[in-house]
Amino acid sequence: PRKIIIDTDPGQDDAAALMLAFASAHELKVLGITTVAGNVPLRLTSRNARIVCELCHRQDIPVYEGAVRPMVRALVTAEHVHGKTGLDGADLPEPSMAVQDQHAVDFIIETLRSHPAGSVTLCTLGPMTNIGLALQRAPDIAPMIREIVMMGGGFSEGGNITPAAEFNIYVDPHAVDLVLKSGVPVTMMPLDVTHQLMTSKARVARIAAIGTRPARVMVDWLEFFERFDEEKYGSDGGPLHDPTVIAYLIKPELFSGRYCNVEIETQSELTMGMTVVDWWRVSGRKSNVQVMRGVDADGFFDLLIERFARL
Ligand code: BDR
Ligand code: CA
Repeated sequence: PRKIIIDTDPGQDDAAALMLAFASAHELKVLGITTVAGNVPLRLTSRNARIVCELCHRQDIPVYEGAVRPMVRALVTAEHVHGKTGLDGADLPEPSMAVQDQHAVDFIIETLRSHPAGSVTLCTLGPMTNIGLALQRAPDIAPMIREIVMMGGGFSEGGNITPAAEFNIYVDPHAVDLVLKSGVPVTMMPLDVTHQLMTSKARVARIAAIGTRPARVMVDWLEFFERFDEEKYGSDGGPLHDPTVIAYLIKPELFSGRYCNVEIETQSELTMGMTVVDWWRVSGRKSNVQVMRGVDADGFFDLLIERFARL
């Protein structure tokens, strides 16, 4: 299986991504989970990551706490989408598993240095602060990283936290800027993909029909998470962003995109965190990101539901 580190800020859709990874041991080996401040402050994202591990009886996966705040800007959170705890919707006991003593950034650096070059993939489901800090502190790890698969950004779809920016990039644009200039191969799942993956009533009913405890809790989480989009936009369900990263590693053929140049706006208040995607290669700048745009939505949900049933 492919070795991965999942960097995350759970979040109901982050939880779905973690569960998809846990259910796919044949394809993926999760070396560790690193948490970051994003949807809610770090204390809560670390709590939520451990809640998901315990729900799936995966206390064997170490959880490392990372950055409490973005590299340069002040933290912006998203309780309006995810609720006060970041994982509202289900009533679960506080986690009893401990977080590791080692800092997430040190874990990332040490793991990359101690594994053969090109064997560890980083999956980022939240602001990229931990990865930015790791690359800043230890530039030697850049050529060791097999690939970074990230959820973030948007181009024809626009932004979801400002008109120009997607949440994960907006929270820490400087970290993403550093990553995109590092030469590490990056695959990006922007809103252009994730907004095609709506958790409709029919799809959530299929998850409910699995009948296991993890599936029932996931339904409760999704029903809370959907409320924001349903009330604001009148949609049937909400967009399942973060599991795209894991689905891509399991079944890349579900996605299509283009290798092109992406730059991050870090100066302008109006367009802070905008992903400027050179889709038509008009800039002459070097391609640095595989940007996804197309997705087989039914295939994606078939995969998700088939895997959730294994938990
Ligand atoms: C991203 O922001 C968070 O709210 C979600 O968990 C996802 O990672 C979508 O913009
Ligand atoms: Ca997230």
